[in-house]
Amino acid sequence: MINHHVAAVSGGTSGIGHAVLETLLQAGVKVSFSGRRVDRIQQIAAKHNEISHWVEGVAADSVDENHVAQIFDAAHRAFGEPPSAFVLCAGRGLPGSVTSSDAALWEELLRVNLLGVMRQLRACATFYKESYSPDSGGIRDIVVVGSTVGRSLSAGNPVYGATKFALHSLVESLRQELCGDGVRVSLIEPGFVKTEFQATAGYDMKWFNDIEHTQGPLLSPHEVAESICFVLKQPPHVHIDDIRIRPTRQRV
Ligand SMILES: NC(=O)c1ccc[n+]([C@@H]2O[C@H](COP(=O)([O-])OP(=O)(O)OC[C@H]3O[C@@H](n4cnc5c(N)ncnc54)[C@H](OP(=O)(O)O)[C@@H]3O)[C@@H](O)[C@H]2O)c1
Repeated sequence: MINHHVAAVSGGTSGIGHAVLETLLQAGVKVSFSGRRVDRIQQIAAKHNEISHWVEGVAADSVDENHVAQIFDAAHRAFGEPPSAFVLCAGRGLPGSVTSSDAALWEELLRVNLLGVMRQLRACATFYKESYSPDSGGIRDIVVVGSTVGRSLSAGNPVYGATKFALHSLVESLRQELCGDGVRVSLIEPGFVKTEFQATAGYDMKWFNDIEHTQGPLLSPHEVAESICFVLKQPPHVHIDDIRIRPTRQRV
């Protein structure tokens, strides 16, 4: 059973974030989520709220200073309590190396994958620390989606990989800082997942189709979401803080 009544998900409009949203809902958790595409947010909220009224969507850029306040406040207003779990899925890719990647996209990559994650971690950690009361007793979770290219060096993806390597430092240091307050900070590192990620980032789809052919079946976003929910399901005294999940046939 998941320990939370209410959770927040950044980047819930597609891919892994959307699958996390659906998996949490199925487990009986109410969810506020963000993304920038207003039409997507409306579609997702309309679809799920026909059944449950357990979904609250917020159009917001995850890099904004007040992004966490927006999705946490929205959850509090809609569900009567703030999230006690926050899953950070918003992110983007970038094909190529230092010499071959599009340097015009470096700032945007660092903005979303690093600056945005740092701002979200700081805001959520501050909120959890300030709202801690020994009587509340409950566990709080922060789960960050990294990548296997943030763990194993990949010649084809080192610039994107650099933003995911940095997450180890951020997540582990925050884990050490917050564990005494009953906050679990975790990193999930997926390999190839078939989502909008590849097309949005401009990866060569012939290359990706070859990968799927030679190393697939690739992961589905729901398979990654299950591993995130596995972390959330652990009893309060157990913390699985790092999971790598890849397609069985993925080499690097
Ligand atoms: N797919 C893979 O193979 C793979 C593997 C390892 C790790 N990952 C990581 O998994 C995470 C999710 O990726 P995915 O595969 O699910 O990709 P995706 O389908 O493209 O989803 C990305 C999500 O992030 C949101 N997003 C992007 N920039 C944002 C911003 N500035 N503000 C708010 N939301 C933003 C997008 O929403 P809007 O467009 O509506 O803003 C979308 O909901 C990323 O961190 C990615 O690096 C992916």
